[in-house]
Amino acid sequence: MEMTMSKVVVITGAATGLGRATALKLAKEQYHLVIVDFNEEEGIKTTELVKELGAEAMFVKADVSNEEDVKNYVTRAVETFGTINYFLNNAGIMVPFRLIHEYDVTEYDRIMNINVKGAFLGLKYVIPVMLENGGGTIVNTVSSNSFKPTAYNGIYAATKHAVIGLTKSIGQDYQSKQIFAVGVAPNNMKTNISANAAVTLNEEIGKAIYETTAPNIAATAEEVAEAMIFAMKNGQLLSGATINCAGGQIYN
Ligand SMILES: NC(=O)c1ccc[n+]([C@@H]2O[C@H](COP(=O)([O-])OP(=O)(O)OC[C@H]3O[C@@H](n4cnc5c(N)ncnc54)[C@H](O)[C@@H]3O)[C@@H](O)[C@H]2O)c1
Repeated sequence: MEMTMSKVVVITGAATGLGRATALKLAKEQYHLVIVDFNEEEGIKTTELVKELGAEAMFVKADVSNEEDVKNYVTRAVETFGTINYFLNNAGIMVPFRLIHEYDVTEYDRIMNINVKGAFLGLKYVIPVMLENGGGTIVNTVSSNSFKPTAYNGIYAATKHAVIGLTKSIGQDYQSKQIFAVGVAPNNMKTNISANAAVTLNEEIGKAIYETTAPNIAATAEEVAEAMIFAMKNGQLLSGATINCAGGQIYN
C-alpha cells in the first residue's frame, strides 16, 4: 500500500495567538509543522504542544524582518521535511495608537519591516521552493484594517492594505505555476496583539475608535484558525481573494 506523504506547513508568528491556534488544529491532521517566531519561549511551547498532539514539528527562531533569518527558516524546513506545501505568512505587530503625523520614523520602520517586508521576505524565499515543488498555497494574515482603518491606526492599516496587494498579485501572477495565495482578515480577534497599541489609549482615542467602529462580534483565535485552514485547503478556488472574518461589521 502506498503511504500518503504528510504535507509540510510553515507558520510564522506561531508562538501565540492565531498562529498557535492554527498550528494546534493542524497538528491533529498529520501535517508536518515548522513553527517560526522570534518569541523563543512561547514558540518552543507551541512546538511541544503540537508534538503532544502527534505532529512532527520543529521550531525555528527567526525575526521575519531579517533576511538571513528568513533564508534560514526556509532552508531548515526544506532540509528537515523535504519541501514546503503551505506557507502561513502570519507574523505581525501593532504600534501605539496615534494620528499619522505623530508617529516617529522608527515606529513606521518597525511596523513596515515586520508586517510588509517580513511578509515579502517570506514570499521571496518560499515561492522558489513551491515553484520547484510544482505548486503550493500561501495564506497571508491581513486584517479588517485592510478594508477600513480603525481610528488612530493609520500605519498599521497601511501595512495591512499592502499585504492584501501582495495577495492579489500572487493570485494574478502565479496561476500557471499552481501557486495560490489567500488572505484571511480577522476583525476583532481575542489575542494580545493590541497590548502594544493600547499604551497610548485614553478617553479621546477610545471614543474615536468606538465611534468609527460599527458593531461586531469578537472572534477567538480558534475560530479564525478555521478560516486559515479553509483558506489553506482551497487555494485554487480562492486565490487572490481574502476571507473577511467581519463578525457582522460592514465596512462601506
Ligand atoms: N488580534 C486581532 O484582532 C487581529 C485583527 C486583524 C489582524 N490580525 C493579525 O493576525 C496576525 C496574528 O496576530 P495575533 O492577533 O495572533 O497576535 P499575537 O501577537 O498573539 O501573534 C503574533 C505573533 O507574531 C510574532 N511576531 C511578531 N513580530 C515578529 C517578528 N519580527 N518575527 C517573528 N515573529 C514575530 C509574535 O511573537 C507573535 O507570536 C497578525 O498578522 C495580526 O496583524 C490580528
